[in-house]
Amino acid sequence: MLRDTTLLAQTPLFQGVPPQALEIAQEAFTARFYPAGTTVFKAGDLGAALYVVQQGRVRIFRTYLDERERVFAFLGPGEVFGEMSLLDEEPRSASAEVVADSVLLVLYREAYQGLIRRYPQVAHNIAGILAKRLREADLELEVLSFEEARGRVAYALLKLYRQGFGENGRMKLTHLELAQLSGTSRETVTRVLHALKNEGLLRVTGGYVEIVDTTTLEEVLYGLR
Ligand code: CMP
Repeated sequence: MLRDTTLLAQTPLFQGVPPQALEIAQEAFTARFYPAGTTVFKAGDLGAALYVVQQGRVRIFRTYLDERERVFAFLGPGEVFGEMSLLDEEPRSASAEVVADSVLLVLYREAYQGLIRRYPQVAHNIAGILAKRLREADLELEVLSFEEARGRVAYALLKLYRQGFGENGRMKLTHLELAQLSGTSRETVTRVLHALKNEGLLRVTGGYVEIVDTTTLEEVLYGLR
């Protein structure tokens, strides 16, 4: 059982839910430690639980036939994943792996159903999480379909930045990771980062990328620069 409801109070899953519900909710979750590099589940697995990141970082990705990977998201404390299979009982739509030592709060389907019977707001909040993800997926489809490599790399950097990835705006990222996020090649990422750095939009040092000018980078995203 968890001792502290602070994190649950901050996750979008429990927005607008009364404090006493959090006490009950925390009992419905099981906290589990995952060492860095552990697979939580693979795309195609059957899934009967959703997860809230209590501590650490999770990578959501898919591997394609030629072994190339597409990374959909890096998730940090308070963020939710695995809700899709919990809801529609279809196989996992993507794989999840912890990239740092992590504690995940696991909510199994039965406990979830008990919780939403008592607090329907939780189901409403899940719908909100899915709506937000669909908006992001629509934007991503647009960027990946119509924008050049510059726009795609700018999109991936802004997305990570807005997800709170890194510390004080400094994001530790390899060129390969950025390529997997932006649907382009490692070589292209190297070229684009170099150009954006020379234009004064980024600082790139020792494996870290820092956005200097988000407004102008946004213009790059939409192909305006
Ligand atoms: P599920 O299909 O159960 O397992 C994989 C999870 O990855 C999925 O639920 C979502 O929680 C999450 N997921 C899938 N696609 C995306 C995406 N584009 N962005 C962020 N998270 C995603």
